[in-house]
Amino acid sequence: MTESYQAALARSAELDKILDTDPGSLRMLTGDRPTGALHIGHYFASIRNRVKLQQRGAEIWQLVADYQVITDREALGDVAGNVRGLVIDNIAAGLDPERATIFTHSSVPALNQLMLPFLSLVSVAELQRNPTVKDEAKSAGITSIGGLLLTYPVHQAADILFCKANVVPVGRDQLPHLEQTRVIARRFNERYGPTFPEPGALLSEATLILGTDGTKMSKSKGNVIELRMTADETAKKIKGAKTDSDRVITYDPDTRPEVANLLLLISLCEGTPPEAVADEIGDGGGGALKKRLTDAVNTELEPLRARRAELEKDPAYVAGILRRGNERANEVAEQTLAEVRERMGMVYT
Ligand code: TRP
Repeated sequence: MTESYQAALARSAELDKILDTDPGSLRMLTGDRPTGALHIGHYFASIRNRVKLQQRGAEIWQLVADYQVITDREALGDVAGNVRGLVIDNIAAGLDPERATIFTHSSVPALNQLMLPFLSLVSVAELQRNPTVKDEAKSAGITSIGGLLLTYPVHQAADILFCKANVVPVGRDQLPHLEQTRVIARRFNERYGPTFPEPGALLSEATLILGTDGTKMSKSKGNVIELRMTADETAKKIKGAKTDSDRVITYDPDTRPEVANLLLLISLCEGTPPEAVADEIGDGGGGALKKRLTDAVNTELEPLRARRAELEKDPAYVAGILRRGNERANEVAEQTLAEVRERMGMVYT
């Protein structure tokens, strides 16, 4: 375990504590990129924490990161449809549109303008070291990294800092961006005076979830269970999941990663430790394991899916949520940008 990962875990544990003792001091921002549908990886790594933060009384900012779509692809796909889908997924999962501000990058000019002073605080060398950017370029098959892909972690710092968020529920892959955000906040504060908080990641125990074939989740590999799937589609997907030939089910992530992954998913849905689930299934084999997982996932997602179906029927309501969210995000972004310009001595009239 690297030192920076350990530090991130410690910060996350600290935030978990504040969630119990002083949730009103927390302002959450997190984002999803509208390149496709959200799946159970997002759900367990981040979405459940968003809802928990909201329930405890934290302030909620939920970004649909539409400018991130153009970081690593030429074909945009159905951005508008994907944006709508993300708004629906988040509300269906439990974000309250009366309390959460849900908004898109491209509608908030002042947020984007923060990227200019922030870019002045980072070096090309540190941007080139970001492992998540390298991974993303690799999985998109990009050999020459574009200017926006290289600098999007700085843009992500603007996403987080424009509303002065102090807690960011994300999966482990996002930690390099969080670290970059903290560095930018620190350097800005040092140079121009205290302005931004140094936000921490709120991690979940679900950082190790794999796809149904036991490899990294990826839409193009068809190994993900999407939130919007029907119960039957979910059953089919899980039926095709990879297991092994040992009939006795045991939880052993090192030697039996595929079986362990399915047990972990059951554990996350049911709130039972994976070892206990394995004991209960015993020599029931892969069939019993998959049946239990199918029931667990479908039970967990059933209310979300029912709300989702209702929201799908009301596009005007969904558009209204985004319109209001964008208005609010603009107000706050303009305030922060005004403060930044003042700090920098760039007020002339
Ligand atoms: N980079 C994130 C992803 O790929 C999405 C994102 C954009 C984000 N801006 C953010 C996450 C701000 C947290 C905070 O999934």
